[in-house]
Amino acid sequence: MCGIIGYIGNKNAINIILEGLKKLEYRGYDSAGLAFVNDSQIEIVKCKGKISNLESLIKPATFSTSAIGHTRWATHGKPSNENAHPHTSRSIALVHNGIIENYIELKKELEAEGYKFNSETDTEVIAHLIGKYRKELSLVDAVRKACLRLRGSYAIVLIDRNEPDMLIGVRMESPLVIGVSDEERFIASDIPAFLNYCRNVVFLEDGEMVLLSKEGFKIYNLNGEEKEKKVHTIAWTPSMAEKDGFKHYMLKEIYEQPRAIADTIRGRVLSDGEVVYEEWGLMPQDMKEFERLYLVACGTSYHACLIGKYMIEEMCEIPVEVDIASEFRYRKVPFGKNSLFVAVTQSGETADTLAALRYAKKSGIKTLSICNVIGSTVSRESDYIFYTRSGPEIGVASTKAFTSQVVAFYILSLALALSRGKISKEMAQDLVIDLMALPRKIEDTLKLDADIQTIVKEVYRKPNFLYLGRGINYPVALEGALKLKEISYIHAEGYAAGEMKHGPIALIEENFPVVFITSHGSLLEKTISNIQEIKARDGFVITITDTNKGLLNRLSDKLLYIEGSNPYLNPVIFTVPLQLFAYYIAVLRGCDVDQPRNLAKSVTVE
Ligand code: G6P
Repeated sequence: MCGIIGYIGNKNAINIILEGLKKLEYRGYDSAGLAFVNDSQIEIVKCKGKISNLESLIKPATFSTSAIGHTRWATHGKPSNENAHPHTSRSIALVHNGIIENYIELKKELEAEGYKFNSETDTEVIAHLIGKYRKELSLVDAVRKACLRLRGSYAIVLIDRNEPDMLIGVRMESPLVIGVSDEERFIASDIPAFLNYCRNVVFLEDGEMVLLSKEGFKIYNLNGEEKEKKVHTIAWTPSMAEKDGFKHYMLKEIYEQPRAIADTIRGRVLSDGEVVYEEWGLMPQDMKEFERLYLVACGTSYHACLIGKYMIEEMCEIPVEVDIASEFRYRKVPFGKNSLFVAVTQSGETADTLAALRYAKKSGIKTLSICNVIGSTVSRESDYIFYTRSGPEIGVASTKAFTSQVVAFYILSLALALSRGKISKEMAQDLVIDLMALPRKIEDTLKLDADIQTIVKEVYRKPNFLYLGRGINYPVALEGALKLKEISYIHAEGYAAGEMKHGPIALIEENFPVVFITSHGSLLEKTISNIQEIKARDGFVITITDTNKGLLNRLSDKLLYIEGSNPYLNPVIFTVPLQLFAYYIAVLRGCDVDQPRNLAKSVTVE
């Protein structure tokens, strides 16, 4: 999400920080800033917008041999000068990447003690917490004590005007890497930030703190014990480094899904099954009122809505309508007064989704958006907002944003079901346990990568594909087909498996590839019948499933067995191999995976 760079050495740190920030621009950001010590004072320069804006604010001939810098991609609080990092407290200035789950409780505590907040960020809480402990402790002890009180993910880097020859960094579930060169040290969220200067790096692990000086570095755990670390030499080109060593952004983003989902869950549910409402504004009493939901979106986000419908109707017993935004905006919809309109959009700027939202608002019904970009137009214009926290998505074909949207629907369904008494506390607790296990299950699913590459070699030249699923896995089939056609230009159709006999079966001939997505449960037998019908016509069946029933195995030409979850979360897990499948086919066909022809990441015109 956010980008971090710090420098300490003999050169002018300001230039190195600006250069490093430019190298991090590819990640996407909405504001930037830097801090350095000058005449025993901390100087901060920060602003909303481009790094060129930041550059223009720096006085000519500004010089410092140490500094920290940051590009922000908003998670708490809109993009603004005030919310840009660094944040300060007493003698320190700090930059942060990640999400502090308990920031509200810490903020209340600090405010009660008289600390004034200048931003809406969770980051400022860390700065004040360190500032508070700094009154009586050394810098190192104050940072350690503050970190022990934080829950969530963070990579922080800070300077202190009273210790100008030192930078401190701490990592917890958010990457931080040190660059080691003669008489200078770097610290960054990503290697590209300093790759032009140095190729020797040390990766920090969770719970490690580094003290950097011109002369060297020392790494400790949060109990203060020193740790020995290995120095690695990086052979990546700058372009490889931007993609974390992956060949394409799309592949990097597919692999980021465990993190994106963990961040989307973070602080939104409690292990006892409770849902945390504070951030999105929609309270349990509001939830009780709704008699109908309208879920509206475009493209991949529309598929998330289709999955959302199955979840909400089944868990909450509320009727749900799903619509493509470009259709919805021109329909005459007879909204009931207790309806909730839900716009789902990664970018928050899709023209048709925005128009549909405005149309719903005009009719006077309440609106919620599920959106990935803080401060985007859709998020600003909605009454309630649930932010997915996938981080910037660069590949045009949506991957991590989609699976995070499905997770958002799961949390929304849980909240609606609880507030309306449709599920017991025990059931809610079980559903939360499954949710918490989801990032790990996705990590396991990603291990199928090599198997998928083997299957792909047999089918990548085929001109047509059919994807079939039933129930909640039907939208997964639609999404699998969309991924394939978007990036490989192969004609692919997603269909409800039960509808197969009403058309698509006419296409089936020898070796026609059909991808089935099927879970254990009541619809499995019916899907097996559909597979038999395809096999009777010599089609080539690839099955993605969480059940290893012998018959399914025998009937399928290829079967990818995945450890599933409950039926509501299986669509997330099943989508991952379909993304990899489309990706490797597109690569073998030599397609421009990250920027497929004729497509745009954000469609801001009708
Ligand atoms: C474009 C993108 C898709 C995306 C759709 C909706 O078509 O190529 O990947 O799903 O827009 O975008 P949104 O930002 O509203 O989710």
